[in-house]
Amino acid sequence: MFEASVYSERRTRLAHSVGKGTILFLGSGELPMNYPDNWYPFRQDSSFLYYWGHSTANLAALIDVDEGRHILFADDPTISSIIWSGPQPTAAALANSVGADHAQPYSKLPVMLAQCVASGRRVHFEPPYRQDTERKLAELLHLRPGSASLHASRDLVRAIIAQRSVKEAREIQEIERALAVSYDMHVAAMQRARPGQYEREIAGYVEGIAIAGGGRLAFPCIFSKRGNVLHNHTYANRLEAGDLVVHDSGAASSMHYASDITRTIPVSGTFSTQQRAIYERVLRAQLRSIEAIKPGTPFKQVHLLAARTLTSGLMEIGLMRGDVDEAVAEGAHALFFPHGLGHMMGLDVHDLEGLGEDLVGYDETAKRSSQFGLAYLRLGKALAPGYVLTVEPGCYFIEALMDEWQAEGRHQAFINYQALRAWRGLGGVRIEDDVLVTGHGVRILGKPIPKTVQEVEAACAA
Ligand code: GLY
Ligand code: MN
Ligand code: MN
Repeated sequence: MFEASVYSERRTRLAHSVGKGTILFLGSGELPMNYPDNWYPFRQDSSFLYYWGHSTANLAALIDVDEGRHILFADDPTISSIIWSGPQPTAAALANSVGADHAQPYSKLPVMLAQCVASGRRVHFEPPYRQDTERKLAELLHLRPGSASLHASRDLVRAIIAQRSVKEAREIQEIERALAVSYDMHVAAMQRARPGQYEREIAGYVEGIAIAGGGRLAFPCIFSKRGNVLHNHTYANRLEAGDLVVHDSGAASSMHYASDITRTIPVSGTFSTQQRAIYERVLRAQLRSIEAIKPGTPFKQVHLLAARTLTSGLMEIGLMRGDVDEAVAEGAHALFFPHGLGHMMGLDVHDLEGLGEDLVGYDETAKRSSQFGLAYLRLGKALAPGYVLTVEPGCYFIEALMDEWQAEGRHQAFINYQALRAWRGLGGVRIEDDVLVTGHGVRILGKPIPKTVQEVEAACAA
């Protein structure tokens, strides 16, 4: 954890932005997997982590904005919880280590909330994204079951997004710690992805590195020779010579900061001519996009630059044709690149999206498009110094999509369906890095992970 003053200063800033009332934070509870005592791995809510530090289940907290009091609600450990889970800090110690004014037993939370409500003060809370949190909120605030999101505080949500979006230097350090582990995960996967191996063997090894690194995976690992399935979470295939594997994974640091890296690996150790042709064009799109990032530039503009770069690359090899700008304006490139260029990243791998994807990625000047492909762009608004985001263009040969578009004769002016036949089965290529928007440009975070054709092939050969 950071020192206590970090959390109290963050809360003081938040209280100042919200202005008045009481801010309620509900930490996460344990979540049963298949019977009451077998839980999913515990993950604390990220705003709770940001403002109150502790990654312990069943905590809650209040900021009384009007009186400037910060209260943590926690129960002292019982003898039974110590027997099963070992020594744990008292409620007072938990409060003290994050600079709270005092601790109260959890049972006091409904009482204090009732007092706030009775005195006519607004209780601000975030929209819940888990059913157990939703239920608890409804109970505590006497809301109709299922309606808590409707009563969530816009002012609080905006203030949290504004604050958490701009990363502190200490947070960048944590993200780079996560990236140091991701480096090992990705290099190990390049060295191990050999003909005869099963995807699950590599995915398991990669997850082991994340755990050995002191955290866990930031999201379920994607390691698949069916790289054209964008988020493929199955690992059943045997790798064969000539396969291309999309490996999208990231470690979380011990303080739960994410990393999110994709590399594409030739199982034979070297890319075939076709694979290399696609790989180099995706890489060009990624490098150009990163170069274009600076404060004030809307990320949608960077996404469209990636789309144009990829489109012109696909025209060079005869898969697309016509005018690049027109093709992208009409969305023809989305056959190959149907997803967004990137997303915010921090405590959450898709940072802050629990508060609402559009509230994080869009604003009054940047609205989400409804065009196929562009509609999946999660971040469109202008970038600001301190933002951390991913840059992850890809090019995929998705059979169902190619068949559907061809049958409809969609974008025939721009897509050479005839030539495309020879590329079916290639799978997909995605290349993803995590970057920081600086005062005047951009910095790729972490130690460089092999990325050029030569670097990847050399890492595979090592
Ligand atoms: N790892 C999922 C993503 O790249 O967004
Ligand atoms: Mn990813
Ligand atoms: Mn990503």
